[in-house]
Amino acid sequence: MNVILVAAECAPWSKTGGLGDVAGALPKALARRGHRVMVVAPRYGNYAEPQDTGVRKRYRVAGQDMEVVYYQAYIDGVDFVFVESPEFRHRENNMYGGNRVDVLKRMVLLCKAAVEVPWHVPCGGACYGDGNLVFIANDWHTALLPVYLKAYYRDNGLMKYTRSVLVIHNIAHQGRGPLDDFSYIDLPPQYLDFFRMYDPVGGEHLNIFAAGLKSADRVVTVSHGYAWELKTSEGGWGLHEIINENDWKLKGIVNGIDTKDWSPELDVYLKSDGYTNYSLETLQTGKQQCKEALQKELGLPIRGDIPLIGFIGRLDPQKGVDLIAEAVPWMMGQDVQLVMLGTGRPDLEDMLRHFESQHHDKIRGWVGFSVKTAHRITAGADILLMPSRFEPCGLNQLYAMRYGTIPVVHGVGGLRETVQPFDPFNETGLGWTFDRAEANLLINALGNCLLTYRQYKESWGGIQRRGMMQDLSWDNAAQKYEEVLVAAKYQW
Ligand code: GLC
Repeated sequence: MNVILVAAECAPWSKTGGLGDVAGALPKALARRGHRVMVVAPRYGNYAEPQDTGVRKRYRVAGQDMEVVYYQAYIDGVDFVFVESPEFRHRENNMYGGNRVDVLKRMVLLCKAAVEVPWHVPCGGACYGDGNLVFIANDWHTALLPVYLKAYYRDNGLMKYTRSVLVIHNIAHQGRGPLDDFSYIDLPPQYLDFFRMYDPVGGEHLNIFAAGLKSADRVVTVSHGYAWELKTSEGGWGLHEIINENDWKLKGIVNGIDTKDWSPELDVYLKSDGYTNYSLETLQTGKQQCKEALQKELGLPIRGDIPLIGFIGRLDPQKGVDLIAEAVPWMMGQDVQLVMLGTGRPDLEDMLRHFESQHHDKIRGWVGFSVKTAHRITAGADILLMPSRFEPCGLNQLYAMRYGTIPVVHGVGGLRETVQPFDPFNETGLGWTFDRAEANLLINALGNCLLTYRQYKESWGGIQRRGMMQDLSWDNAAQKYEEVLVAAKYQW
C-alpha cells in the first residue's frame, strides 16, 4: 500500500510533543512492513539532509498565491518531504505561534501542498499511485486534508480511489474560529456545514477538527482509553456527539516508542559526563551511576539511597503540574529529591524557578526543552510523575518503563492503559495510579511508591524488570494501523 502521513511536526526535525515523535517513527515501522511510505511536514529550519528537489508550486490560500518548494530525503525506507515557504521558515521554536488566522493559513497551505505531493515530487522513481494511496492526517492542523480530498480530488475523479485516516492525538485543540474564517479555507460554500459547530458558551463557530472527523474514511486515536473518553461530554471537548455518530470509523491504537532512541543500552546521551548505558543485567549498578551523574550535573547532593522523582513535560494544566505544586510541601517533608523539566505557561515556569530557590538542596526546576536532559532524567530518576488531567496516550511513561523508572500516574486515557497498578499480593503491575486528578490522591500513590522503594526492594526490582521487558516497539501498533488503512481503502 502507498501511505502518506502528513503532520505539522516531525521529529527529529521538529517537535513540540508526542505528535512529532509519532510522525517520525510510525512511518518507519509501516515501511518495515513493506509499504511505500512518505511523510510530509513543514520545513521550519535549515535541515541538513533533505535536499531541494527543484519542484516549485503555487497554491491559493485565502485568495493569495503562495509558492512552496519541496525538499526531500530518503531515510530508513521512508520518503521525508518538507514543504518550504516563508510562512514556515524560522519557526522551529514557535511552530504554532502567530495569530489565529496566520496559523490557519499555514495549515491550509500545508494541507494543499501535501495532497498534491504524489503528483509533483519525484521520490527516487517511487510512484505513490492514486489507486492504492491512503493519507494519514494528524490532529486539527491537518484535518483539512480529508476535506480537500473529498471536495476537490475524489469527487472529481483525480484521486478517486485515494482514502484518508485522521488521527486524534489531542482533541483539546480543534482549530476553532468565527464562521467568517471559512473564507480562508477555499472550499465550495456547501462545505460550510461540515465546519459549523455550536457550543453553549462560544455559540456558533467554525471547527476544523469537526469537518475532518466527518470527512475522513477512518479515525484513529492513540489509546483505547482515550477512544472511550472522547465519546463522553467531558472528554470530547464539545465534539463527543460527532465522535459518537462516527463511532464505526473509530479505533484506539496505543502508540509505540522508538526503541533505538529510547534504549538504556544504546542511549547516546548516557555515554558521557559520568552517565553509563545499562541493561536488565546491569540495571542496579547502571541506574545508580546515572542517578549520581544526574545529581552531580544538577548540583544536588550526591546520594545513592535517596529516591529521585522526575517530571518531564509541557508546563500546562493538562499535565497536572499544579497538582505537583500542591504536593511539594508534603514531598519536602520526605527524604526525596525532585527534578522537573519543561517549558510552557510563564507562571508555571516561574513556579519551577521558585521551588528551586526555596528548596535548593532538594529540587531542580529546569525551564527549557532539552532532549539530552530528558533522556538523562529518564535514566537517573527512580520515579516518574505524570499527574496529567487527561492524556491521550503519553510517551514519557513508556520511556520511563524502558529505563527501569517507575511511573506514578493519574489513571486516565493512555496512562491507565499502559501502567497497570502494582499489586503487592500477586507481585504484578508496572507502577502506581490514582483515579482522580487531586493532590491528596497523588500524595497517597506516591507515598505507597516510596514505601515500596524503601522497604520492599525485591518488589521494586520486579516492577522495574517487568517494565523493561515489555515490547513497546512500534511494530505492534504498525500492524494495527495497517488494518485501519486496509479498512479505509476497501471500506470494510
Ligand atoms: C499528544 C497527546 C499525548 C500523545 C501524543 C502522541 O501530545 O497529548 O498523550 O502521547 O500526542 O500521540
